[in-house]
Order: sequence, then C-alpha cells, then structure tokens
Amino acid sequence: MTYLVTGGAGFIGANFVYHMLAAHPTDRIVCVDKLTYAGNLSTLEEALKNPNFRFVKADICDREAITKLFGEERPEVVVNFAAESHVDRSIENPGVFLETNILGTAVMMDVSRIFGVERFHQVSTDEVYGDLPLDRPDLFFTEETPIHTSSPYSSSKASADLLAMAYHRTYSLPVTISRCSNNYGPYQFPEKLIPLMIANALADKPLPVYGEGLNVRDWLYVEDHCKAIDLILQKGRVGEVYNIGGHNEMKNIDIVKLICKALDKPESLITHVTDRKGHDMRYAIDPAKIHGELGWLPETMFADGIQETIQWYLNNRKWWEEIISGEYQNYYQRMYGNR
Ligand code: NAD
Ligand code: DAU
Repeated sequence: MTYLVTGGAGFIGANFVYHMLAAHPTDRIVCVDKLTYAGNLSTLEEALKNPNFRFVKADICDREAITKLFGEERPEVVVNFAAESHVDRSIENPGVFLETNILGTAVMMDVSRIFGVERFHQVSTDEVYGDLPLDRPDLFFTEETPIHTSSPYSSSKASADLLAMAYHRTYSLPVTISRCSNNYGPYQFPEKLIPLMIANALADKPLPVYGEGLNVRDWLYVEDHCKAIDLILQKGRVGEVYNIGGHNEMKNIDIVKLICKALDKPESLITHVTDRKGHDMRYAIDPAKIHGELGWLPETMFADGIQETIQWYLNNRKWWEEIISGEYQNYYQRMYGNR
C-alpha cells in the first residue's frame, strides 16, 4: 500500500509520517511538501533513512508536478495535511490561504480522481464550526453543527471541506474528512501558543496573551490525532466527517501559567496584548461519533502530554532555535511589535 501524505514536513504531517512508518512498517509513505516557512526537512531526518519513505518537494497547487508524482507512485491513499495553518497569518494575508487550502485541495482531488485512489482523506479543523459561548458549557461541536467560520483560515478550510463533499457526491471520489481540535506536541512551529510561550519563557521574554486570555481551546496530543486519522483510513466510512477531540478544554491563561510553573519562570512575564481580530471564544469537540463507530479514544492525558512536550522543546533546542533565528524575527516584530 502506498500512502501519499501532503504537508508531511509540518507539525502534524511529520508526526503522522512517523506514526505510519511505525504502525505500517511494510507500507510505503510518500511525502509531498512545498517547504514553506512552516515546513522543515530536518524534522523528517529520521524518516529519510527509512527505505519505505520518499520526500518530494512540490506545491499541491502545481497540477503538473502532482500528476507526475501520482504517475510515478500510484498511491492508493492520499492524506491531505498541506495547508497554511496559522490564523494570525491569515488575518494579515488571506490570499495564500485561499490558494493552498482551497485550490491546492482541488488539485489534489482532481488528480486523485484521475488516478482512481481508494481513499482521499482531508485533514480539517474544528474551526470550521466557528465558536461556542463561554457561558454554555453544555454545548459541543458535533458533525451536524453548521459551518460558521470566523477567520480567513477557517473559511478556507471550510471551503475545502465543502469541495471535498462535492467531489464525493458528484464524482464518487472516496472522501473522508476529519475535524480535529487544537493539537500540541513535538515539532509544532513556534508561532503557535504552546511552543511560542515555551520559547519566550526560556528566553525570559514577555508572554503575549491575547486579550484577557479567557478563550478556551480543546487540546489533543498530536499522536492521538495521528492514530485517529489512521483509524479513519482503515475503518472509516466513505463520505463521512469525523470530529476528533478529547474533552480537554483549557483557558489560554491557564496554559501559559502552567508553562511558567513547569519552567520555573515568573508569571510576571505574562503580558496582555491587543486581542486577535474576530477571536473565537471557545472550541469544544463532541467525539461521540469516532468513539462509537471506530472505538477511538485519546490515550494521552493533558497533564502528561504537556510535560512531555515541554521536555521535548528543552531537549530539542537546536530544532526551534534555528527556526526563530531567521525570518521568524521579522514575523514576530510584525505580529507583536506594536501590540
Ligand atoms: P503546519 O503549518 O505546521 O504545516 C503545514 C505544512 O504544509 C508545512 O510543512 C508546509 O510546508 C506545507 N505546505 C504549505 N503549503 C503547501 C503547499 N502549497 N504545497 C505543499 N505543501 C504545503 O500545519 P499543522 O499544524 O501541522 O496542520 C496540518 C493540517 O492539520 C492543516 O491542514 C491544518 O488545517 C490541520 N489542523 C491543524 C490543527 C492544529 O492544532 N495544528 C488542528 C486541526 C487541524
Ligand atoms: O482548533 C484547531 C486549530 O488550532 C487549527 O485548525 C489551527 O491550524 C491551529 O493553528 C489552531 O488554531 P488556534 O488559533 O486556536 O491556535 P493558536 O496556537 O494560534 O492560538 C491558541 C489560542 O491562544 C488562541 O485563543 C489565541 C491565543 N494566543 C495565541 C498566540 C500565538 C495568544 O494568546 N497569544 C499568542 O501569542
């Protein structure tokens, strides 16, 4: 079996590559990634030593390159992680989100259709459902919750989901979609909340909490996400959407305080900055469908996963220090300089 994984040099894609190489040692994993600012080939260093793994640098919007690759590899399964993934960047510059997240997904599905893949899996997000109010803890996102997006990022992901469902209905492309909550774990790019706070705290820099920090996210350890996708590929029903999340809601401010405590840094580093435009208040997944149909449950408790993650960033300083020493500084200045 050959799996074509797009965006495998990014955070979740790379964790998925490692999961698949370990869980399916006789299968072939081909990774296609454009290596944008968020993609890092060094993340795949160990995978590149595995004869069952191939890396190809290409843009998912490049129909010719993708068609050539399908001709060479004839993948049975495509898993589409490749995306522009950071909400703040989408607010600054939406265009590239529309190109990669919508048009790139369309190219991947067109070529998958021509080559007759057995499965096209679209990695989506709980952000397509918009947000929930803080004063209604009884409400959760189910697969039936209407699409109601807030940011250019979530709108582009929702557009891709709608296209994927249309390709299923119109062309019978064997599509599945997963919508996961916030991931954390190794190899997350330090523009996202948890690694950014770890990196800043270690440098005794201010910890920029948007607004009051009362927004709630539903955190899932990345390996649990990877296992859920694998399960959907093996046992999921074509044409279906599966929500992925582990009932682990946390306020941003509590996460930042926890990171301060774990690193023995003072909470006085916490700096409240101007809120994100259109900031979603609360995400909370109801995972009843994937649990009931496929038996999936998260395995890593947040209390353990966050300590492992902090330890990973302590043990792998070279990985993220190289990232934040380059173009990241310009990004940081633009995003946080006058906030
Ligand atoms: P990431 O930004 O860390 O990685 C994205 C990867 O895609 C990078 O390696 C980048 O080089 C690659 N890429 C970007 N544009 C490309 C293009 N045009 N062609 C080929 N490759 C391209 O993202 P992530 O956090 O790992 O997210 C992966 C997927 O999971 C995304 O689709 C995202 O929407 C979804 N998701 C993320 C989370 C989360 O918490 N991070 C939660 C739910 C869903
Ligand atoms: O829910 C799934 C989504 O989770 C994914 O689809 C996205 O790709 C992923 O980036 C993530 O989106 P968020 O916007 O929730 O993640 P982020 O890490 O950017 O922010 C988490 C929360 O922390 C959010 O409420 C904003 C806040 N925040 C973030 C940063 C970077 C801060 O307060 N300060 C910061 O510096």
